[in-house]
Amino acid sequence: MDKIIIKGGIPLKGRVKLSGSKNSALPILAATLLAEGTSNIENLPLLKDIETMLRILDSLGAKIELGKRSVKINTESVRNFTAPYDLVRTMRGSICILGPLLARFGRAVVSLPGGCVIGPRPIDLHLKGLEKLGAKIEMKKGDIKAKAKKLKGKRIFLGGAFGSSVLATANLMMAATLADGETLIEFAACEPEVADLANFLNGMGAKIDGAGSHFLRIKGVRRLKGGTYRIVPDRIEAGTYLVAGLITKGEVAIEGAISRHLGAVIDKIEEAGAKVEIKKENSLHIKNSGGLKSVNVITLPYPGFPTDMQAQFMALMCLAKGTSIITERIFPKRFIHVGELNRMGADISMEGDSAIVKGGRVFIGTRVMASDLRASAALILAALAAKGETEISRVYHLDRGYERLVEKLSTLGAKIKRVE
Ligand code: EPU
Repeated sequence: MDKIIIKGGIPLKGRVKLSGSKNSALPILAATLLAEGTSNIENLPLLKDIETMLRILDSLGAKIELGKRSVKINTESVRNFTAPYDLVRTMRGSICILGPLLARFGRAVVSLPGGCVIGPRPIDLHLKGLEKLGAKIEMKKGDIKAKAKKLKGKRIFLGGAFGSSVLATANLMMAATLADGETLIEFAACEPEVADLANFLNGMGAKIDGAGSHFLRIKGVRRLKGGTYRIVPDRIEAGTYLVAGLITKGEVAIEGAISRHLGAVIDKIEEAGAKVEIKKENSLHIKNSGGLKSVNVITLPYPGFPTDMQAQFMALMCLAKGTSIITERIFPKRFIHVGELNRMGADISMEGDSAIVKGGRVFIGTRVMASDLRASAALILAALAAKGETEISRVYHLDRGYERLVEKLSTLGAKIKRVE
């Protein structure tokens, strides 16, 4: 298994170019199951999760032609409707093939995703919505078996205990595009990735109104056709590089970032005392001249502070002056990074769904273990700022969501290498 070794303490300097968004690309790839003809997806991030989704589509019978940063997919040859357990279990995002398979082919079998290191990942909202549209769903031996002759548009309230759900909204929106009549989704997720999916679907001929708001109106159409679509830049990758610039007291320009996707992150960085310059459209510039102070953070659905940036921001707060309370309102158990950050010299304690981060610490390089994707990113950031050398094992978690991380950080001057 590979390891990443980082010699910390070097201020990062230079420009980094963002890749396409993982969490946009996954449902968009699944949505190609709805299209007649070929879909051409551009700005595809080169990530393990994307490879997994393509392998799932391939196993269903889709024809896939992979370009350098693009993929052509034709799903007319799909004859198998069961997603293989071995692939599904590695990536919870695979649940988003359920809606499109059901809408286009009338049936789908997908393994029930279990919990994961970031806590339980229920799918009750996905199933409630699909049942409302007329699907018959049964659970057998850990599989979700769904059938529907023809889905019918309905009014669906999709709020759950933690607010809206990104992938449940995606699943329902995809399913409703080919349903008879009109579907109204209330309490839809507003994340940019949901809006990106809606743009792709509308380009295929769907009729979706309200994307980016809590209310979606979808008029069902008889068929959708393939088209060309470019995936938006990854806002979480952008946020991670912003923190990388700050935590190393460096100066980093991030190319391709859409600043309005990062409002809550930029706001917290500015509250902490640093300035994010929006240089020209799609370029963010961060500089840390020292003196960051602690700020409190609560994760919330978009446009609130993203849970996918919580761990990385916590690493930054360990070095800031004062005490910061970081509260998780999306995945209350998503704190697996706390123990490893403490091993590197942080002073973090837990109280319920909140981490109390005592700042003003110094990270000291040591051996740590990556766990989930964003927790691993937090360890990389801490290592970049640490005194001495840090060895991070189980780095396959990072391959799931950060494209060419080692190369991109090296370009910024980091002393980082990957070894077997
Ligand atoms: N929830 C339910 N019932 C459901 C679905 C979700 O109670 O049926 C709860 C979840 O347990 C959670 C909250 O609703 O408390 C929000 O979860 P959501 O469904 O929005 O998460 P997701 O769609 O499964 C996506 C991203 C995650 C990201 C979350 C929140 C993808 C592939 N995954 O997951 O990304 O954290 O939205 O923004 O889009 C990551 O990239 O590291 C990652 C985990």
